[in-house]
Amino acid sequence: MTEIFEAIKISAIRIREAIEFDDTGYSKDHNATGDTQLKLDIKSDIIIEEEFRKVLSIKEIVSEEKDDKTPLHLDGKYLIGYDPLDGSSLIDVNLSVGSIFGIYEGGYAGANLIASVYVVYGPRVELVIATDKVRMYRLNQNNEFIYLKDIVLNQQGKLNAPGSTQMCWEPKHKQMIDDIFKDGYRLRYSGGMVPDLHQILLKGGGLFSYPSTSDVPKGKLRLIFEVFPFAFVFEKAGGASIDGQKRILDLVPSHPHDTSPCFFGSKNEIQRVLEVYGRK
Ligand code: F6P
Repeated sequence: MTEIFEAIKISAIRIREAIEFDDTGYSKDHNATGDTQLKLDIKSDIIIEEEFRKVLSIKEIVSEEKDDKTPLHLDGKYLIGYDPLDGSSLIDVNLSVGSIFGIYEGGYAGANLIASVYVVYGPRVELVIATDKVRMYRLNQNNEFIYLKDIVLNQQGKLNAPGSTQMCWEPKHKQMIDDIFKDGYRLRYSGGMVPDLHQILLKGGGLFSYPSTSDVPKGKLRLIFEVFPFAFVFEKAGGASIDGQKRILDLVPSHPHDTSPCFFGSKNEIQRVLEVYGRK
């Protein structure tokens, strides 16, 4: 899989340059979920596809920016689901954004995920690779990703990142979030999944939630490109992730763009969600 990680590193360096200097405006196109695509979404997708085409071990790719799967190499072994530029509308206000990759073998289900990678484009560019462990790298002035440390979550954290808007939350969700704040947790939510989860991972733990809401009952975040890869990272870092009741990595999507409610966190916070959502 080293050649896949290398292709991701090259893509990240090219995307970082586009973020810094390209036009941040909208294109005239929409993606499969109906979001208007930024020119940068399209460019990042093209960059990643170009780099993945050079890797013979990749059988097929599926991008958040495309309606369907793209076959690459017939004899390849790996399938990659990716979100080229998550949170891209935040670039306009100069907040951090990211790229997310799930590397699958045998099909796009949580159980088939064998590695995941994400890149944070912030004041610094950081890359996190989860396989058996979760390893973090930072880009230096020579365009090399230098290993910094392994990421390991505490049993319990201090941060709370509640997604969507209170107006659309179920009463039990609102009660749970209020209770968490009453226990002293701090609000940390930028609206970018990658930097928000990265912060929880680096600051020892906490909870990120994007529940079922009145406007999106099946959740907003996409299983193959966003939810599975981060569920893998959280488990390998010693945390957990669930859809409310079930372990995320046990879910099987029926369509590339399927979404799911999701909760990522350290073990104690996920136990707390299970207690609230497990109740009838
Ligand atoms: O992928 C969509 C996304 O931008 C995520 O990066 C982020 O976590 C989420 O949407 C934010 O959604 P909301 O504004 O509804 O909380």
